[in-house]
Amino acid sequence: MGKELIRLVDCCMSYDGEQVLDHINLYINDREFLTLLGPSGCGKTTTLRIIGGFTTPVSGEVLFDGRRMNDIPPHQRQVNTVFQRYALFPHLDVFENVAFGLRIPKVVEEERNGRTVRRKKKLPEKEIQERVLEMLEVVSLKGFEHRRITELSGGQQQRVAIARALVNRPKVLLLDEPLGALDLKLRKDMQIELKRIQQQVGITFIYVTHDQEEALTMSDTIVVMDKGTIQQIGTPEDIYNEPKNAFVADFIGESNIIDGVMVRDRVVKMYGREFACLDGGFAENEPVDVVIRPEDIDIVPPEEGQLVGTVTNVTFKGMQYDIIVDFKGFKWLIQTTDHSPEGRHIGVKIDPDGFHIMKKSQYSGMFGDYSSYSEEYEELSDADALDEEDDGEAARREDGYAE
Ligand SMILES: Nc1ncnc2c1ncn2[C@@H]1O[C@H](COP(=O)(O)OP(=O)(O)OP(=O)(O)O)[C@@H](O)[C@H]1O
Ligand SMILES: [Mg+2]
Repeated sequence: MGKELIRLVDCCMSYDGEQVLDHINLYINDREFLTLLGPSGCGKTTTLRIIGGFTTPVSGEVLFDGRRMNDIPPHQRQVNTVFQRYALFPHLDVFENVAFGLRIPKVVEEERNGRTVRRKKKLPEKEIQERVLEMLEVVSLKGFEHRRITELSGGQQQRVAIARALVNRPKVLLLDEPLGALDLKLRKDMQIELKRIQQQVGITFIYVTHDQEEALTMSDTIVVMDKGTIQQIGTPEDIYNEPKNAFVADFIGESNIIDGVMVRDRVVKMYGREFACLDGGFAENEPVDVVIRPEDIDIVPPEEGQLVGTVTNVTFKGMQYDIIVDFKGFKWLIQTTDHSPEGRHIGVKIDPDGFHIMKKSQYSGMFGDYSSYSEEYEELSDADALDEEDDGEAARREDGYAE
């Protein structure tokens, strides 16, 4: 990754008096793959439009190479965009779709007799040929030059759109949910492909998605947004391992988020019991949110468990089982390769590095309980669960932490 290229300083945006971006501060480096990630309506597209020059923020600054760009129109920003609906020209073939931008004469300024004159300049046909073919090779569409757009698959059309956006050699490519229209398998292939293309052409990609897995797969940096604000900026590993609050922990991957108290450095209390962890720097007895990832929990016999609960659901997922375990009415998700049948009492063990402790936030208590997940499965298996209901209730009353 190179040096800083773009910076947003305190950017705010509102429509009809309603604030949709609230003091966005962000910098993007040359050659970085940066992803804006967040739920629908959080302001991703608006942020992208501000960078692209399609929208001007009501306050704040947009800097490119340290220069203020707020009022510079899109075509003077060295930025190109790939939209979700990629709007190719159906009456032109693949080659002419990609060549389209190159065929538009450019206005150039020249010094003549001490005066600056503007004139329109066309690229030579030979250069157009070379550049289009080079780009078709980058997106793996060599040999498709004379295909009609209607004769291409969705994934191939997406590649044409990317080639068309890259052929002008922008410094930055903006991509707004470009894979949204593709099916899951194709999306996964294109994620890897896009990352390769970005590395090959060596420019900055700013990518918008609400798909956390997509963000984790492709990005150097992820910006997690909610309701017009940035919640966290970091590498995929940072965001996954050290989420700042319950919103981020819940949005990125699966998380059990439990109410706890930080007794002192490296000791957290949940369910009235103390656990060793690696976190510190909190006030004595500070209330905290405790994140435990489903894959960091070991199932052990009840007498060996730090906590004891009852399995309420089991779903086979191919690589692992997703099991829902009830601990005193709060349901956890555990991912394990060991099968534990519904109704069984199990113990769990969590290593100190399996805990991640977060400060309380406006999102505390809103996420990280798998009760509703559990209910969906309970409804599906309602018929055979009926006669076991009494046993289940009795078992639940016995639950709690091991003595
Ligand atoms: N031109 C506009 N006029 C009025 N409101 C707008 C306009 N553009 C966006 N908004 C509002 O701004 C908020 C943020 O919209 P934005 O398109 O940036 O969200 P997003 O994160 O891209 O969502 P999605 O994932 O659904 O595309 C939304 O509440 C939206 O309704
Ligand atoms: Mg959007």
